[in-house]
Amino acid sequence: MTNYQSNRPLKTLFHFYHQDFGQLGLSLFFYLIKHSPEWLRPLVIANVIDIISSPSTHSLQELWFNGALLSFTVVQNIPTHYWHIRFMSLATRKMEWSLRRALVERLQELSISFYHGNSTGALQAKLLKDVEAIQTLTSQLFQLLPSTILTIVIALCVTAIRAPAFLLFFAATVPLAVVFVYFLKAPLRQRNQKLRREGEALSAYLVEMLKLIPITRAHGAEQVEIERTKQKLTQVKTAALEVDSINAIANSSAWVTLRLFSSFCLIGAAFCAYKGQWGITVGSVILLTGYFDSLTNSVIQILNVLPQLSKGFDAIQSVGEILECQEIERNKHKLKLKNVEGIFSFQGVSFTYPGTDRPALKNICLEVQPGEIIALVGPSGAGKSTLLNLIIGFIQPTIGQIFLDNKDLSKIDLRSYRRFLSIVSQETILFQGTIKENLLYGTKEVSEAVFWQSLKDAHALEFIEQLPQGIQTLIGENGVKLSGGQRQRLSIARALLRQPRILLLDEATSSLDSEAEFLIQEALERLMSQRTTFVVAHRLSTIRQANRIIVLDKGKIVEIGNYSQLVNQGGLFSRLHRFQKDLLPT
Ligand SMILES: Nc1ncnc2c1ncn2[C@@H]1O[C@H](COP(=O)(O)OP(=O)(O)OP(=O)(O)O)[C@@H](O)[C@H]1O
Ligand SMILES: [Mg+2]
Repeated sequence: MTNYQSNRPLKTLFHFYHQDFGQLGLSLFFYLIKHSPEWLRPLVIANVIDIISSPSTHSLQELWFNGALLSFTVVQNIPTHYWHIRFMSLATRKMEWSLRRALVERLQELSISFYHGNSTGALQAKLLKDVEAIQTLTSQLFQLLPSTILTIVIALCVTAIRAPAFLLFFAATVPLAVVFVYFLKAPLRQRNQKLRREGEALSAYLVEMLKLIPITRAHGAEQVEIERTKQKLTQVKTAALEVDSINAIANSSAWVTLRLFSSFCLIGAAFCAYKGQWGITVGSVILLTGYFDSLTNSVIQILNVLPQLSKGFDAIQSVGEILECQEIERNKHKLKLKNVEGIFSFQGVSFTYPGTDRPALKNICLEVQPGEIIALVGPSGAGKSTLLNLIIGFIQPTIGQIFLDNKDLSKIDLRSYRRFLSIVSQETILFQGTIKENLLYGTKEVSEAVFWQSLKDAHALEFIEQLPQGIQTLIGENGVKLSGGQRQRLSIARALLRQPRILLLDEATSSLDSEAEFLIQEALERLMSQRTTFVVAHRLSTIRQANRIIVLDKGKIVEIGNYSQLVNQGGLFSRLHRFQKDLLPT
């Protein structure tokens, strides 16, 4: 959606439909036919009254004709209404479909830091509720506007022919409606926007609350959570009440004003007929009040849906927060990698998280040879995960550059680079599906031999064979629940079968018991020997085989060396090492 402009919602809305104007036109066409009784009825009633009030000048045939005309225009409503809705629906549902697709495409492009600043719940609200509000907006806009305009035009034409003096009445209603809309627009928009933001916050909170339930239960904090929920619900309620009350005021004052006008028209027309002025007959009174009623009805209708229109326009703005977000990973026209050696060069790299003033990494300089195993150690918060995120390209250095195979990482198409990269992180993320689907996620071709070897190397085969359907076993919400260690083994197998050139391990063995860790360590060692590896581990015993150990502290490299060098050096590493050794059972 390149033409998305949230500050010009109406233009954007028309752009959504630029391919569907044919369908919208057909829908409108059927609408006009379907709606014809509304415009014809006052005319027919006026004719009938004129026929019966002066039987001498009219024949009964005219009466039958008017009756037949009215019945016909009523009956045609069934097919025409169907086609009107059908064409409208084709266009609006397609818009809904393509808007959601565009949103998902954009979400897949947005950088990881965008997700640090936006909660899942709020994004979910935009994808579901806001798109729905835009769809509703269109249906209303395309039904209401043409019909209202047409009603007004027909009312004006008939009146101009039958009783031109009454055009004055009609002319006064339109500016009146404009004044209403003018004064209501800003407060409506503000309140709707507030309500939407509260709704997004509630949605975000609810997602979090549901995730937190085991912890809430374990800490006996149910009451605290209920209180917190109540607070959020109250905020939404207050915002909704404000919207409702402004709607109520708007609707009632519009209704009263327009109905008063309508009464004046009736009395005025009746007065003229009574006095025999301007050739106004009894039929004309009915006709004028009839058209005036349908005119005021359409104006009231517009004012009634104004809140929903306002909500829809606000939704266009809301969706724009995703579609117009510039925090995207720009990969287009960048260098696509066909293969990767695994040479890294960090040149004076610093990184500061947005919104913080202390850099998480400071002036990192490091050269890494292909196939080298680099261990990153250091106290919690030292910047180890941040360094891994820089290597993946989730974040870009604030200062300095990273080179991969002597090419600037910022000039490389990261998608092509990441094909050669595998990650086993602290948190294992699996989705609902079979074990096999989870293992093969994002991997194109894997031979049977590599597949089974990876499972074996990750020591995952042992437990998978125990499961009822082996690798076809469903896991996740509707399937088998796996333990932390089992999940981690799947995650390691997933990394192995991609046969990466670069391997990133962030606490990859943290959920494993000592025996499993020992076994996997051995598999990882074999794996690490063929590719450039960055491994983060708190358990220092697991990084003995690293070629070099980088010790980070407060974002800076404080020591570099191999295991024995660092142990003997008497610095931070040896202190960490001594402390851990004291904790280990002898
Ligand atoms: N998304 C973020 N926004 C702001 N600051 C962050 C963010 N992530 C991490 N930090 C900060 O950056 C610093 C480095 O964090 P990092 O996660 O890299 O540490 P770490 O060495 O991996 O720690 P651990 O061993 O506990 O995993 C910390 O001070 C942390 O508070
Ligand atoms: Mg970390």
